[in-house]
Amino acid sequence: MWMTLQVKTLEQPATLTFGQQQIQLPVVQGSEQELGLDISRLRSATGMITLDEGYVNTGSTRSGITFLDGEQGILRFCGYPIEQLCAQCDFVEVSYLLIYGHLPTRQQLSEFQDSIRKHTMLHEDMRSFYSGFPRDAHPMAILSSVVSAMSTFYQDSLDPTAPDQVELCVRRLIAKLPTIAAYSHKKSVGQPFIYPQNDLDYVENFLQMMFAVPSEPYEVDPDFVSALNLLLICHADHEQNCSTSTVRMVGSANANLFASIAAGVCALWGPLHGGANEAVVNMLNQIAADGGDVKKYVALAKDKSHGFRLMGFGHRVYKNFDPRAKIIKAACDRLLAKRAIHDPLFDIAQELEATALSDEYFIERKLYPNVDFYSGVIYRAMGIPVQMFTVLFAMGRLPGWIAHWKEMHSSDGNRICRPRQVYTGPTERPLVPIDQR
Ligand code: CMC
Repeated sequence: MWMTLQVKTLEQPATLTFGQQQIQLPVVQGSEQELGLDISRLRSATGMITLDEGYVNTGSTRSGITFLDGEQGILRFCGYPIEQLCAQCDFVEVSYLLIYGHLPTRQQLSEFQDSIRKHTMLHEDMRSFYSGFPRDAHPMAILSSVVSAMSTFYQDSLDPTAPDQVELCVRRLIAKLPTIAAYSHKKSVGQPFIYPQNDLDYVENFLQMMFAVPSEPYEVDPDFVSALNLLLICHADHEQNCSTSTVRMVGSANANLFASIAAGVCALWGPLHGGANEAVVNMLNQIAADGGDVKKYVALAKDKSHGFRLMGFGHRVYKNFDPRAKIIKAACDRLLAKRAIHDPLFDIAQELEATALSDEYFIERKLYPNVDFYSGVIYRAMGIPVQMFTVLFAMGRLPGWIAHWKEMHSSDGNRICRPRQVYTGPTERPLVPIDQR
């Protein structure tokens, strides 16, 4: 059946005509002039649904948290450009911005920091989980398990409809995620767990839990603190990406916040999403071990029969430079120069970027380095093991997940997320008894 869709002006609803029937579809305009067709009445009026695999054209919600323009390479949190947030704020300040929608005053920030500090320790019994995990367990698996298990230990903050319980849960998550993450690293290297130290700030505290040992003093390196703050801010939100949509999807069933965030961690782990930062460094290592022939790997990435992709390249939304990749590459340059570190993987990464960006395949498809391309080089310079890279992405993305979960619960149109499908399986058929099949 043929259909026509007519949009006359943005003020009037669009008209969808099919056969003898017509339906009006309101046009929704965002604050940055993005347009969407509101199809919420489509099925009740026509019996039809839309089909959009991978949700390439589907807006799942209205949201006031993050704006991104993939054509122009613009990213803003609550209106503030990512470049300014990275230059002027620390991660906890940006977390406050995302969760509460405005930048904190000094007093608000200090109260927020204090309330987080109160919750940095894990329930002592939770430490015993770690002895049950195999030593070589991936820290993302540990992170999602332990976050999920928080709902067994902190049962006084599970009700998604009780604002005070949600606030408590938010603080517990932000405070404890670095502790859970650092313990998963300590487990993998067989060192004793280091308790949080609440006179340190958020990032300092994480670094001391990661790298300090009880037998000698540990001094937190200020260069690493600023590099990590910047990386966490760059990762803090990215509107309706795979893991955030997962958190919203799970949360829409009124699952508690711990359970929703644990689901987000699992989604983030995938190498097409947050797991790409680990995959990038593994790929760069592979290229280095193979003689550093960058052109060979660019050719492999173009060869569809091979299935190999340049990790850290391409993005569903950015068809231009990912602004986060620019910020991270500059930070990487600064850190390596200041510390006089020569990392051969950084050389390979830069050569790979230059080769891909001048190649017709990548130009045509508008494939640019994304946030994950250079972050691993900074993590390496800080001594963070490859398996922990995606855990750091999760620490950064946590305030974004929380902000979206809260926004969803406070929105008027909040309903359980439940997509439809077009069924393509067998039509009705008689069941054949087992001994006659
Ligand atoms: N290397 C080679 N070819 C690529 C790549 C790549 N990295 N990315 C996309 N393409 C090609 C793809 O084969 C397709 O070609 P064709 O039109 O000939 O079929 C075209 O570009 C469009 O790709 P797509 O897979 O349809 O795009 P998508 O929007 O579904 O996927 C992506 C986006 C990020 C999953 C994909 O670009 C990719 O797999 N990149 C590598 C993994 C990666 O770096 N992920 C991190 C994303 S950013 C951080 C985050 O989200 O967590």
